[in-house]
Amino acid sequence: MTTWTSDEMAPRLGQSVDDLETPVLLADVDAMEQNIREYAAVADEHDVDLRSHVKTHKNAELAAREVELTGGTGICCQTLGEAETMARNGIDDIYLSYQVVGESKLDRLCWLDGKLDALATTVDSAATIDALEAAAARNDRTLHAVLEVDMGLHRTGASPEEAPALAERIADADALAFDGILAYDANVKSEASTEQEFEERCWEAMELAASVVDDIEAAGIEVAEVKVGGTATSRYSARHPVVTEINPGMYPFNDVGELELRPWEVSKADCTATVLTTVISVPDEDRLVVDGGSKTFSLDKPQMPVPKRRDDIEYVNASEEHGWIDTSESDETFAVGDRLEFVVPHVCTTINLHDLIVGVRDGEVADLWEVQARGKVR
Ligand SMILES: Cc1ncc(COP(=O)(O)O)c(C=O)c1O
Repeated sequence: MTTWTSDEMAPRLGQSVDDLETPVLLADVDAMEQNIREYAAVADEHDVDLRSHVKTHKNAELAAREVELTGGTGICCQTLGEAETMARNGIDDIYLSYQVVGESKLDRLCWLDGKLDALATTVDSAATIDALEAAAARNDRTLHAVLEVDMGLHRTGASPEEAPALAERIADADALAFDGILAYDANVKSEASTEQEFEERCWEAMELAASVVDDIEAAGIEVAEVKVGGTATSRYSARHPVVTEINPGMYPFNDVGELELRPWEVSKADCTATVLTTVISVPDEDRLVVDGGSKTFSLDKPQMPVPKRRDDIEYVNASEEHGWIDTSESDETFAVGDRLEFVVPHVCTTINLHDLIVGVRDGEVADLWEVQARGKVR
């Protein structure tokens, strides 16, 4: 059997976007870097560190660019496999904002710890603390642990009431170092719909974090770090003096979700990740079909793709390779072969569907970023 690739058809540096095969995932390089600088300015203003969450793009070169543009020291990852991929590609300071469970995974974590300048991981229960301590001891390492505290999302995280005892358990463990708390406040996204509500709810969440810090410190344990996450919330939560570090992930790109959530500060121009599609069928004058469906755009949230440069057409439905577009409000006549560009509904899961992010500047391919940690779910 012959195996072959059609690499010669892949995007090439300097190629005109007009000549790219579709569907293709694009990132507007200048606007993306502008978004990164904007968050770096927020972090500077509030004197917090910015540690970008690379779960969004899963590429080490982009991660390094985020570190450079934000003046940060390292990155966040969500899976161990993601962290290993970043380490293999030159990143040496990683915070894993996720509970690592299972002996063999914990041994991998210890191995990774030996390869990096700095590594910290997340725990939120006696079970995860004890297993981490056992792994560190059997691998002869000291592991840095961050205690996740539930700010109201009710996903993972110890309750604020149990946090002091768990912090003490970490601080007492010979093979562990207690770094501080993770106060991920994404619950605010479903509680707030105006700028003022974002300000108020994020402040309330950080007041809760501050009271947890007080309780832990009352037991004589220093809380050096308070990490808070999220593109939507971190720019508000950073205003609270308890916060030491923000961990936004989507912020270089934004998406339709962010556009709908915070219209006062996110516009289509700030949505830098798009998919360029081609019209493959124009069945009648009120609808057409493009070559990007649910295997191109992740539809894990209620949002649909939104046209990047126009408002007269609507992406209304998707099957796997087909995007159904309502053109009834448009005066334009569309033809097979026309190109249409859409802002992605949810950027993290959409990037995860693609092998490559094509960086675009002035209508040409300016950069190519492989989605290196795609599939690294373990
Ligand atoms: C713990 C944690 N921190 C940070 C982030 C990044 O948030 P966002 O994708 O909103 O930027 C996430 C995203 O899921 C997360 O789970």
